[in-house]
Amino acid sequence: CLCVCIPGWFARPTSTETSHDAGSRRHLREFLDEMRPENIRDHLRKFTRLPHLAGTEQNLQLAEQIKGEWLAYGLDSVEMVPYDVLLSYPNISQPNYISIVDDLGNEMFNTSLSEPVPEGYENVSDIVPPYSAFSAQGQPVGDLVYVNYGRTEDFFQLERQMGINVTGKIVIVRYGNIFRGNKVKNAMLHGASGIIMFSDPADYCAPGVQPYPDGWNLPGGGAQRGNVLNLNGAGDPLTPGYPAKEYTYRYNLEEGVGLPKIPVHPIGYHDAIQLLKKVRMNIHTNNQVTRIYNVIGRLRGAVEPDRYVILGGHRDAWVFGGIDPVTGAAVVHESVRSAGKLLRKGWRPRRSIVFASWDAEEFGLLGSTEWAEVLHTVLLQERAVAYINADSAIEGMYTLRIDCTPSLHTLVYDITKQVSSPEEGEEGLSLYESWHKRDNWTDDRDAPRISKLGSGSDFEAYFIRLGIAAGRARYTKNRKTERYSSYPVYHSVYETFELVERFYDPSFRKLRAVAQVRGGLIFLLADSQLLPLDASQYAGSLTKYAHTIAQLGQKHPDALVKYGVSFDSLFSAVENFTVAARDFHERLTTLDRTDPIQIRMVNDQLMYLERAFVDPLGLPGRPFYRHVIFAPSSHNKYAGESFPGIYDALFDIERTANPKQAWDEVRRQISIAAFTVQAAAMTLTPPA
Ligand SMILES: *[C@@H]1O[C@H](CO)[C@@H](O)[C@H](O)[C@H]1NC(C)=O
Ligand SMILES: *[C@@H]1O[C@H](CO)[C@@H](O)[C@H](O)[C@H]1NC(C)=O
Ligand SMILES: *[C@@H]1O[C@H](CO)[C@@H](O)[C@H](O)[C@H]1NC(C)=O
Ligand SMILES: *[C@@H]1O[C@H](CO)[C@@H](O)[C@H](O)[C@H]1NC(C)=O
Ligand SMILES: *[C@@H]1O[C@H](CO)[C@@H](O)[C@H](O)[C@H]1NC(C)=O
Ligand SMILES: *[C@@H]1O[C@H](CO)[C@@H](O)[C@H](O)[C@H]1NC(C)=O
Ligand SMILES: [Zn+2]
Repeated sequence: CLCVCIPGWFARPTSTETSHDAGSRRHLREFLDEMRPENIRDHLRKFTRLPHLAGTEQNLQLAEQIKGEWLAYGLDSVEMVPYDVLLSYPNISQPNYISIVDDLGNEMFNTSLSEPVPEGYENVSDIVPPYSAFSAQGQPVGDLVYVNYGRTEDFFQLERQMGINVTGKIVIVRYGNIFRGNKVKNAMLHGASGIIMFSDPADYCAPGVQPYPDGWNLPGGGAQRGNVLNLNGAGDPLTPGYPAKEYTYRYNLEEGVGLPKIPVHPIGYHDAIQLLKKVRMNIHTNNQVTRIYNVIGRLRGAVEPDRYVILGGHRDAWVFGGIDPVTGAAVVHESVRSAGKLLRKGWRPRRSIVFASWDAEEFGLLGSTEWAEVLHTVLLQERAVAYINADSAIEGMYTLRIDCTPSLHTLVYDITKQVSSPEEGEEGLSLYESWHKRDNWTDDRDAPRISKLGSGSDFEAYFIRLGIAAGRARYTKNRKTERYSSYPVYHSVYETFELVERFYDPSFRKLRAVAQVRGGLIFLLADSQLLPLDASQYAGSLTKYAHTIAQLGQKHPDALVKYGVSFDSLFSAVENFTVAARDFHERLTTLDRTDPIQIRMVNDQLMYLERAFVDPLGLPGRPFYRHVIFAPSSHNKYAGESFPGIYDALFDIERTANPKQAWDEVRRQISIAAFTVQAAAMTLTPPA
């Protein structure tokens, strides 16, 4: 290492911990300790003064500011990377609203055109009113049908049990439970002419908490903005698969990926309780190709500059971005600042670190996905070690939440043991101990819970399209007792700096803890001599998922026999993977840690392990979802599904018109999964 080493550190490396690792640990401590709550507070304050919607002048200015500060902190280079992507904005002179109409078509009641602006922000211009980005235009009139959350099962219940046909009707659904784009897709599939989404207090107000500004609940006049695309990982709707540069071929709007064909609009609960049987939607939102900017900062690795560890999060916000995304952006900023401090003392990580401030995440993960396309696909497939996501760092006040690939579990537990609990009255406890106490696994392990990655943020293209090991960390609510979705004021104008300072994290210690977890992951991935990825954890997860999916199949014992469907090949592949992973980690204990070629060889095996789960052909109907083990659920983009190809083939199979064909597809998907897991196992065996 090129570090300035304190005498004594090289004293006596153990067989598994080299002098490099010991030095690295000491620098990790410095890196973590340098992160300060008051700095995170200042970054949050600074980046939330004005709205900074994607495609606006303010968000470009923020990008310039971040670029300047990252350079000043000491990164080797920072560039602005523009793309021209399809965005969607309301028409200022023709606002969107919903009205109750009488028999003559008179509008007897209109929903509000904007949210009451919070105190202190009265003079702020450019607050985009609540809208559903990429809604179709139109003014459908019709009877209103309530479809609960608009989930697949809600529409099934309506049609199959209640015999209600929504064709030509306007449906109204409550927000929450699933990604809003899936609600819109379901409404379209069932023939609705429009869809209204409202925030139900049952889902967006915590009991005993006041509406903002007296508390952190959603006021009745607040509403949730958001895009309603069904992109399935495509990025910019007009340039799927390719970066949206000036010379890129663009589809027509009619051919664009994932654009809804019906009008969509969000409202708050004060308006929702007014709506009666027959309504008209007045939606004039426009799609518009608009320039966006990613900011990409680089820190060159000292030993393996051709290996990249990425910390990326978005910058664009619906309005001020008080939680989403600036709690995340502030954490990235503090990580860059702290890394810069170490750089000045002569430290350099073994591998390169890439810091990314993505644009247009709110419009469908556009900036991050465009950057991952073509040029970077080639580079990242060859060189990316891991991607850590940095969206909102807090969504509740209870404990840590981690979603990550199985090979990162061990590293997450390791780093959280080196971070202090941010909770009052838990002095002396590590974050790990605090988290363990508060969110213990309900299944087989005595360890804090870690979940699968779903989607809904910028890691998607990196993990699910490219097969790069990925993870995310944030502070969350108590999922046992707090029933509301995300957090009450999500995507409303009430996401302000004051919301975080007054209610979520007055000491900014929770945000610091999240910064230390995200930063610590990046640090150890970039600086450890042996990559801290654990294939055996992957084996454990594969075993669990194989049993889960086989149990789903075994709900149809007669069909399994009749159509010759068996999960044996999958279990065999998982068993082979388990053995290969165990042997691999055993060999690591006797590896000659002074031989750089040996080190590089095993590190490549670890780095490429996640890549081995990618099927270049993609999942059926979802060519950009290529990870055979994990994909966003077809029914809820936010949730992760394991063995998604098999899961989707089995879904609702008892209702299929052609059972032979449907079960053939199940067999095909089981074989794809088995081949893929077996191939991944082969990558872990000794190379000769
Ligand atoms: C916005 O609405 C005005 C008034 O109806 C109309 O003249 C204008 O063309 C609309 N703008 C766009 C971009 O469609
Ligand atoms: C609703 O808005 C329309 C269009 O601006 C207007 O003509 C109508 O009078 C409004 N209705 C009410 C009850 O405000
Ligand atoms: C808003 O502008 C008015 C008039 O210029 C001014 O009196 C008031 O103090 C401003 N309010 C805030 C919160 O800046
Ligand atoms: C619903 O109604 C439409 C038109 O009224 C009809 O074409 C369609 O078949 C109906 N769907 C069901 C499931 O009955
Ligand atoms: C977690 O749960 C297990 C099983 O119920 C229990 O044995 C263990 O003590 C718990 N750990 C903590 C830290 O609460
Ligand atoms: C697992 O390994 C055994 C022994 O090498 C082999 O016979 C079997 O085909 C493998 N399973 C799969 C699914 O490839
Ligand atoms: Zn976000």
